[in-house]
This record gives sequence, structure tokens and C-alpha cells, in this order.
Amino acid sequence: MIGVYDSGEGGKSVLKELVRLMPEEDYIYYGDSAYCPYGPKSPEFIIKRASEISEYLISRGCEIIVVACNTATAAAISYLRAHYPVPFIGMEPAVKPAVLHSKSGVVGVLATEGTFKGKLYSDTLARFSGNVKVIEQVGTGLVETVEKGVLEGPEVEALIHKCIDPMIAQGADHIVLGCTHYPFLQSVIEKIAGPSVTVVNPAPAVARQAQRVLEGIKKTEPSTRKGSVEFIYSSI
Ligand code: DGL
Repeated sequence: MIGVYDSGEGGKSVLKELVRLMPEEDYIYYGDSAYCPYGPKSPEFIIKRASEISEYLISRGCEIIVVACNTATAAAISYLRAHYPVPFIGMEPAVKPAVLHSKSGVVGVLATEGTFKGKLYSDTLARFSGNVKVIEQVGTGLVETVEKGVLEGPEVEALIHKCIDPMIAQGADHIVLGCTHYPFLQSVIEKIAGPSVTVVNPAPAVARQAQRVLEGIKKTEPSTRKGSVEFIYSSI
């Protein structure tokens, strides 16, 4: 059983890739929507919720947990790995592939406040940005619109323009989606950014990493899997 956890609906962009890759597995998706958004919350609060939700998922039999939230990964993944006996897969800000493929030497990263403040992001930037200019932008309002299920229309476009116009004006040729809510807006972001900009969603790479980890575990366990997905929202 695989546990997948996010502050709300965003982690479903990762769940989709997991199910595509491993349809035979059983999943519990936990959306912490009563406490969404995580972006402006303190790392202490996010660690507390991540611990409670991980304990619940482990008690339900999850063998691995995918923290399908960049903000929760930034605040809590080291704590979770140190305190619980199952493997945790986190979200990596996909700065590396964007930097590697950038021709203009400018890339944009869209993420939450919490993700930008975290050590994971600053370490990733220090390791991979090289000579490429990285423009950081908090995706103000984007998580909220995805939670409401409003994924297109003039208001969404206005929010996205505000976020990405400055990146485009500075020559960004890649935009990294550093929050798992944002892939739900990917087609609108691509339309506004135009054909010369590549939008990078790290979810497929995270799903592949989860598959590698799960294969290591499965060697010792018989398969009794049915291919099910259960959704739970802030029940603990
Ligand atoms: N989906 C989340 C992320 O990847 C959290 C967004 C939020 O709750 O602010 O960062």
C-alpha cells in the first residue's frame, strides 16, 4: 500500500503519475484540506501535521509514503525519515533539468513561500543553478484557485500573468512547477508563456523514484495488491 499526502488537492497531480506507472498498487490519498494552504504556515506546524498523517497512513498499512507536496517536503521530510520506519519519497524542485536544458540562461521557479524558505530549495539552487539566472516567484492565489476547482477563465489567467510575466520579460525559457497544485494549471500556464517556454512538472520523475523504492521493498513481500485508490480529507 502506498500513502500519498498533500495539503489538499495538489498531490493528485503526483497520484496520477503513480497510478499511470503502477496501476496494480493500492493507494491511500490524504488531502489535508482543513489546513490548506501550507505555503504560509510555519515549519513546526507542517511537521506536526506531517507526523500525524504519516502515523495514520502507517497504521493503515502503507509501506511507503509519497509526500506529494513541495512545502511539506521542505519542512518535514528529514524529520519524517528520522522518526518513522517506512521510506518517504519527497518532491524535488526540478531546478536541475530546467537549468540543464535552458538555452537563454534564465529559468523561472514557481513555488510557495514555505518551499522557497526551505533548506532543500537553497541547497538545490546552490548545487545545480550554475551560471543560470533563477527567478523565484510565489504563485500567489494559485493553490486557492485549484482547491476551488477553478482551473481556467479570466481570473485564473490574471493570476498566472502576474506570476509569470516578469519571468518571461527577463527571458526565462523554462518554468519549473515547484508546487504540486500547479500542474492542474499547466495548460493555461503554457498558453500564457507561449511556445518558446518549457513548463517542467517534476511529478513523473517522483513517481519513477517511488517505483524504484517500492521494488526494493517488494522483493521480501508477497503481492496481494488490487489496484485501488482511497481518498481521505483531514479526518485526523
Ligand atoms: N501542494 C503543495 C506544494 O507542493 C502545498 C501548497 C500549499 O498548501 O500552500 O507545495
